[in-house]
Amino acid sequence: MSDLTGQNRAHWEKEEQKLDELVQQAICPGGEKAVQRLVQQGKQPVRDLICRLIDPETEFFELSRIAGFGMNYPDVQDVPCAGLVTGLGRIHGNWTMVFANDSRVKAGTYFPITLKKHMRAQAIAERCGLNCVYIADSGGAYLPMQAEVFPDDQQFGSMFYNMARMSAMGLKQITLSTGGNTAGGAYLVFMACQSVMIDKMSYSFLGGPPLVKAATGEVISAEDLGGARVHTQLSGGADHLCQNQEEAIDQVREILSLEPPQKLYIQRYQEAPPRVPAEAIYELLAANVHHGINVRAFIEAIADDSHFAEYKRHYAPGLGDNIVTGKMRLKGIPVGIVASNGIGIIFTQAAQKATEWIIRCCQDKTPLLFIQASPGYMVGSDSEHMGIGKYGADMVRAVSCAQVPRVQLVIGPDNGAANYGMCGRGYRPHFLFSTMRARTSVMSGRSAGEVLMSIEERKRGKPMSDEEKAAFRQQMTDKYDGEAHPFYCGARLLNDRVLKFREIRDWLSMAFGVSLLRPIGEPSFGNQRF
Ligand code: COA
Repeated sequence: MSDLTGQNRAHWEKEEQKLDELVQQAICPGGEKAVQRLVQQGKQPVRDLICRLIDPETEFFELSRIAGFGMNYPDVQDVPCAGLVTGLGRIHGNWTMVFANDSRVKAGTYFPITLKKHMRAQAIAERCGLNCVYIADSGGAYLPMQAEVFPDDQQFGSMFYNMARMSAMGLKQITLSTGGNTAGGAYLVFMACQSVMIDKMSYSFLGGPPLVKAATGEVISAEDLGGARVHTQLSGGADHLCQNQEEAIDQVREILSLEPPQKLYIQRYQEAPPRVPAEAIYELLAANVHHGINVRAFIEAIADDSHFAEYKRHYAPGLGDNIVTGKMRLKGIPVGIVASNGIGIIFTQAAQKATEWIIRCCQDKTPLLFIQASPGYMVGSDSEHMGIGKYGADMVRAVSCAQVPRVQLVIGPDNGAANYGMCGRGYRPHFLFSTMRARTSVMSGRSAGEVLMSIEERKRGKPMSDEEKAAFRQQMTDKYDGEAHPFYCGARLLNDRVLKFREIRDWLSMAFGVSLLRPIGEPSFGNQRF
């Protein structure tokens, strides 16, 4: 190991340790005291329930664990894990989307970020054709923020709209209530295709006892108003009565036991491990995120047999190869690649090559992986006159219309229009993964500092002193670099998970496996300029 590769490894190990520490805060809100409170209520932490729900010895692919940190809501700074666990696991072999309110975070109530996380998981389920299991234990809307969580599209009502529509498509919506489900939250129980309640633990009512007393004067216990017996024996709003959480989880598994097996809509080949270990990534990616990368070496550490069948390798050296295109297999699944290389700036030749390749993969129905480490398209008169705007737009059009499953992985700068051309969030990739090396923002902190400084000087009407310039530049750099950081983006659900380098292969193969559970449609592209 050279000095440089050793430094890279030490840097990334440390960065991923910071990620581990944040995740630990997300998954243990309230610490041991909160777990003891659950024990007194006869409950287990939600991830233990999920572990029992999915097939033995299989992995739960948990999404967006660092969502909700630094939100600065009224009286609430952090909402660990957004108060909601979402993720993919196999139940009787079938990929299923699992949702679970964490009652340790403000009684599992819904903040704006909780809703965003819930909507994102439902969107993945609907697009990929997955059944959904909701482990419901929520005080409903976070009431101090009702105006931001209740009335709009993609807010509270949309959870149930999505359930109804997915159910109509034949995607099973199963709810297991393990606590209070009040007001809007009650619809999680009543909208399900089948719902399971637990005696003296689950409650579901449109108005809880205090509201009933205020509205009608009736004094009644939660149990008699909307307990598990009421809904399974009297109202019929729930379908299965269980005595404890273990029995209830087994009941959910039984409900899903006769679901038809899912099918993969692509030829899956024999899987082969990479010849280059994933550990190599820690050494080959520069600690400085603005330094260029050798993406071919990166691909070797994730591809089956480390084999990359490159397309147009020799086209426009030094210009065309800032994007690398080709195919690899990921655990046997064929995947088309569009990957930033070197310093990642996109020249016209690279944009043209990428567009051509995206359209080709769409023609032969190969899913696409975008490996993003680009600070933007090339600027300047040479580039403008050669049509960088036009060719960049062609690439964006191709990315937008590509009908094949698309996944984005960010391993470097992710700025400006390169975010569009490389299939950023606005382009609705089936999954979007980040790493500790990702920096997503409209431009880099350095560039933003310069642009904003020229605006500031114009506003002031006189030039700034050198000290003022340095201070301003630093302030802007700190702000932009902070907002581009994977923790900031992960907190706001701008990615589906921040992956460690050694997790990349497993997660990408899961993502393509799930995205290919629906048949790929026919290609169709709108206007291109060429
Ligand atoms: N909005 C805002 N905060 C809420 C809330 C809500 N809907 N429901 C609960 N909380 C808060 C509590 O104030 C408490 O905050 P604190 O820890 O800072 O004191 C925390 O969440 C835990 O609530 P607590 O009542 O102690 O938990 P519990 O396990 O004893 O009871 C519920 C859980 C859900 C049964 C109970 O909190 C409840 O009935 N909440 C009101 C539900 C409601 O009417 N929702 C209507 C909105 S659609």
